[in-house]
Parts: sequence; C-alpha cells; structure tokens
Amino acid sequence: MNDFSPDLGIGGGVADPLVEAARDTARVKGLTHEFYRYPARFSPTFVRAAIQTFTRPGDWVIDPFAGGGTTLVEAMAMGRNALGIDISSLSSFICEAKTQVLSDQEVAAFERWTERIDTVINMHAPSVRHDDYANAGYYRNLDGHEFWRLRKAIEQALSSVERLRLRGSHILARCVVLRVAQWALDSRKIRPSVSAFKAQMEKQAGLMLAAALEFRDQIENLRLPSRPVALSLNRSTAGAESEEIVRQACPPRLVVTSPPYPGIHVLYHRWQVDGRREAPAPFWIAGKLDGAGSSYYTMGDRKSPGLRSYFENLKETFNSIAAMADERTTIVQMVAFSEQDWQLPRYLEVMEECGLQEYRPWDIDMDDGRLWRDVPSRRWHAHQKAHAPGAREVVLVHRKAGA
Ligand SMILES: C[S@@+](CC[C@H](N)C(=O)[O-])C[C@H]1O[C@@H](n2cnc3c(N)ncnc32)[C@H](O)[C@@H]1O
Repeated sequence: MNDFSPDLGIGGGVADPLVEAARDTARVKGLTHEFYRYPARFSPTFVRAAIQTFTRPGDWVIDPFAGGGTTLVEAMAMGRNALGIDISSLSSFICEAKTQVLSDQEVAAFERWTERIDTVINMHAPSVRHDDYANAGYYRNLDGHEFWRLRKAIEQALSSVERLRLRGSHILARCVVLRVAQWALDSRKIRPSVSAFKAQMEKQAGLMLAAALEFRDQIENLRLPSRPVALSLNRSTAGAESEEIVRQACPPRLVVTSPPYPGIHVLYHRWQVDGRREAPAPFWIAGKLDGAGSSYYTMGDRKSPGLRSYFENLKETFNSIAAMADERTTIVQMVAFSEQDWQLPRYLEVMEECGLQEYRPWDIDMDDGRLWRDVPSRRWHAHQKAHAPGAREVVLVHRKAGA
C-alpha cells in the first residue's frame, strides 16, 4: 500500500526531496510568480520537487485548481506541458500572464508603454470611467471620494493598456496595473499617493518584464525540440474531463494541486479595502467577469452543517480528476483543515469514493505517516497562533485504485 512500484519510476526514498521541499517556508518568488499575490498560493519549491519526482520533460501536468498558476509556471520552466483549470476568470487571466512567452516585438511594445507611464497618469487630465463595469457593481467600495485619485490613475493606466495591440504586451501591461492596484488597495492601512502609485507602476513594469524574460530564457535554454505549452481553462473542474482542451492533456503524468480547504474562508476573488470592505475591482482591472459569491470559489458555504456542499463539490471535482487520470498518474495535493479530526477522515473517504488510493511514499517518522508542514503566515490566519486550525497543511498522494 505504501510502496510505489519502481517500474513507474518511483521507488522508496525517491520522494524524499519532496519532503524537504514541502517544508520550505521561503517567500513565493522567482520567475513570474510575483505577478500577482494570489491568496493561498503554494510554494514553487514544492511544486518543482513534485514535478521533478513524478514526471519527465514533455509529460503533461494538470492543476485542476490552478489559482495563481504556480504549477503552470514551474511545469513550463522544467519543459513539461501544463493545463490549469479554475472556476475563476481572474485566475485564468493570471495564469495566461505568467506563462506567456513574449516575442521581441511584444517586448519592444511593452517597453514603449513603460516609457509613457509618467505622462499617462496625470491628475489634471481626464480619465475614461468604465461605465459597463461601474454599472455592474465592479467599482463597489472604491466609488467613494477618498478613492478618486487612485481610481482615476487606474482608469488612465487601463486606457493606455487598451491601446496596446499585441496580445503579449497588452496582457503583461494589464497585469502590471493589476499588481500595482493590488499593492495600492488590498489590505492596506494607508492609501498611497498618486506619485507613489506611478513610481510603483514604473518599478513593477521593469521587474515584471525582467521576470518574463527570465522565464523565456529558462525555457529556451532547455533546448527542447518543441516549446512546452501551458493551457488554461476557465470553468469548474467538475465535468471538465469531456472538454477537448482537457483531453489533449490526458492522461497527465502528474496532477499537482491545492483545492479550496474545508471550512477555511479565503477571499480569492476580492480585495479588502479600508478594513474589511470587499472590492471586486480585480475583475474589472483584469478585464474579466466575476462568477458569483465567495462560496462559488470555496466549494461551498463554510457554515453548512458537516460542510455538506463542500464535500459534494469535492467528490464531483475529484471524480472528474480521476476520469482524467490513468494508472500512471500521480495525484499530489496540499490541503489544510479547519477541524482536522473529522475533516481529514471525511476528505480521505471522498478520495476513496472517487476510486483513488492513498500512498505514503515518504521516508519519515511522522505520527500518521503523512507529510505535514507548518503554514507560513497566510492571510486567512495571519492573526492566529501556529497551532490554530488551518495552520498545518498535509501533502496527500493518490493513484487510481487497483493500479
Ligand atoms: C487554494 S487555491 C489554489 C492556489 C494555487 N495552488 C496557487 O499556487 O496559486 C484554490 C482555487 O480553486 C478554485 N476553485 C474553487 N472551486 C473550483 C472548482 N469547482 N473547479 C475549479 N477550480 C475551483 C478557486 O477559484 C481557487 O483559485
């Protein structure tokens, strides 16, 4: 039960680098990872170790809860093809921004845009209000007088982005605005001035272009016969196995993911402005439409008894993940629980109901043979102590039963 068969390339002890990587608590950085602070991102070091352990160049890797795209970036940078699925259109935008490989023309157009930032953001010039977004409520909690300068700066920056014709330059520039607007607005006590906003735009444009070029170089230096691809699909993973784009990636050699955690509230789709007021602005800035309320992104209402809808959703999505996999697919997940005592057994039961069998390929002496790690400070429990719910994550490894 706990042995990986060596003919699958995974003998005893081979997963050990993953143990070290899972416990890595370094800040998320490198390549294009810092393009956006997606809530509950997992560590690139961990994903890299999972990809290294379970796949070879040219293999497919799927992340069915792609979020900020950590898996996609790491997979491509290691010469693997990747597919990310996420119910959030904001996630799909970020995945595309982080994994695009820019052409020289796109780089040049982006650089010209960067040079114009200083004149484009100008409080004495008019801005174009995005009425369609404003009327649909995407300016919520940013409509007040205290935000007019930042709102105007964002509108002016977006108007200049919209003039960029080349897709790669457009997406990178839009992502710069998103990144800087998040810096200016999300979970901040003091609003920055317009000149600080502008300086941050110039700084981030430089950093993000350098990161995109580092990503491109890393892929080119692999010298593979064909460039790895990253595909991204915006929909629920439940039922996604029948989509043409998913079939291209199936069966993947590895699924590596971190689903929404049971009972743990994370605001994937909102920024918090002026204390705890929720703003849907990231969708407006990314040029996307929001799906629905927060339970849509967290697989169910955390107040429902026994987290019924969460576990139903979990089962539907993992039935689909099992349908994408074959007997050679390894499924690695990072999960945390608000109440581990009953949620972990229920979680594992759902995996079994989906025909997935658990493996514990670690050479470690842990109470339950599973790999646990302390979570470095994350937003949902930033105010909690280390032993508080959700402050530990576990790495679960599964394969299709009977494989
Ligand atoms: C914990 S985050 C993933 C973070 C990711 N590992 C990273 O490094 O950024 C979970 C993601 O699952 C997505 N999600 C929730 N329900 C989903 C569903 N039914 N199908 C696909 N994605 C879903 C959320 O939108 C969120 O982006």
